Amino acid sequence: MALWSGRFDQETDEELKKFTESISYDKRLYRYDIAGSCAHVNMLAAQGIVPEKTAGAIVGELKRIEQRIADGDFTFTAELEDIHMHIEHELIKALGDEGARLHSARSRNDQVALDIRLYLRDEIDAIADMLRNLQKTIVDLANKYRTAILPGFTHLQHAQPVLFAHHLLAYVEMFNRDFTRLQDCRQRFNVMPLGSSALAGTTLPIDRDAVCRELKFDDISRNSMDAVSDRDFIIELLSALAIFAMHVSRMSEDLILWSSREFDFIELGDAFCTGSSLMPQKKNPDIAELSRGKAARVYGALVALLTLCKGLPMTYNRDLQEDKEPVFDAIDTVKKILRVYPPMLASMAVKQEKMLAAANDPELMATDLAEALVEIGVPFRNAHHRVGAFVKWCKQHNKQLCDTTLEEMRQTIPEATPAFLEMFSPSKSVEKRETPGGTGPQSVDKQIRFWQKNLSL
Ligand code: ARG
Repeated sequence: MALWSGRFDQETDEELKKFTESISYDKRLYRYDIAGSCAHVNMLAAQGIVPEKTAGAIVGELKRIEQRIADGDFTFTAELEDIHMHIEHELIKALGDEGARLHSARSRNDQVALDIRLYLRDEIDAIADMLRNLQKTIVDLANKYRTAILPGFTHLQHAQPVLFAHHLLAYVEMFNRDFTRLQDCRQRFNVMPLGSSALAGTTLPIDRDAVCRELKFDDISRNSMDAVSDRDFIIELLSALAIFAMHVSRMSEDLILWSSREFDFIELGDAFCTGSSLMPQKKNPDIAELSRGKAARVYGALVALLTLCKGLPMTYNRDLQEDKEPVFDAIDTVKKILRVYPPMLASMAVKQEKMLAAANDPELMATDLAEALVEIGVPFRNAHHRVGAFVKWCKQHNKQLCDTTLEEMRQTIPEATPAFLEMFSPSKSVEKRETPGGTGPQSVDKQIRFWQKNLSL
């Protein structure tokens, strides 16, 4: 018999039970459900809604149930729909009518809104720590390879030489935005919904602020109808996770490219690659590829939640039970990525000579020539045109930019000085870019020190 069976004559159909149950996945909320129930019953006792003795017994029994679930000594069944019903059913089984007092002034609608917030708070804190660890790993790599130079790309075409550390620190920025988005989301949803009851509040004299304090929320929700129907915070969290997954997919793509024979800039550790069942010579960057691929399921979760909530009438609708599997899966996926990614990065061997050789293409210094012309008074557009003509001249004469005489250079760049012939060095090119945020060694050093301080390395 379900706890809500009072007005029903017939037992629920078996297939229907399987269709409506959420216990198979919402059991992971048990700790939060129990924490919420303990705070709720303590408040009920303080308000004289249930006797103190009963509240004590209920809290004691809830703790026992929590321990049993943690120990795997608890049977879950589709009969009892969800985690809220399971715990309450068990409580009533143990305490009889005393246990039956717990659900006063509460509905599963505000209960689940509370549980999911408590759960997400913990998950966000765990993910935030893991993100920090990922950032630290990248900063360590940047510090270790602070002099390595590789070609920077735009349009996946060689553009200008950059420090490898500068490239790595770009990811640290991306992951930092992810970190702050998570914090921002957490702060906005840290509002206590319990006491909203089914949708309209309750006739009983509850003290919502006491529950708010006990469960460490910043405030209580202002509107009971919004509180039971709102899932914005899950959508916000999934957006933040989807953006994070997109960042990981971009970093993975770089690692995959760099590992290819064509780039050959890095080699990931054997432990983070796999072989081919057919081609004996293969070493594939599967962890990076899977991390790139997993963005798809995180995006899927976000789209699922947006679609789920679209057009829902006020207030709680059972559709909302479908919020859990996608968000659980997105959280599990992101945590899986965050567990393998830092050690994979740390396993990377960096082929600095290969990187430098690729950056040692005089064409990558063409912008430096144009900027040198600006420094001696040539308007930039004209400078750009002259250097462009020089590149064309070199191509026509089958020469490298660095292989011309000053006279030859002056055919297209009349203002060229002997110093122009010395500009075709990747390290010089990098060294000249010391503007704040540029790839110059001092600018990069400043970035490294900023992150070492802010991530307290
Ligand atoms: N298992 C439900 C969910 O996850 C709990 C709330 C059910 N409320 C209700 N009125 N049936 O949404």
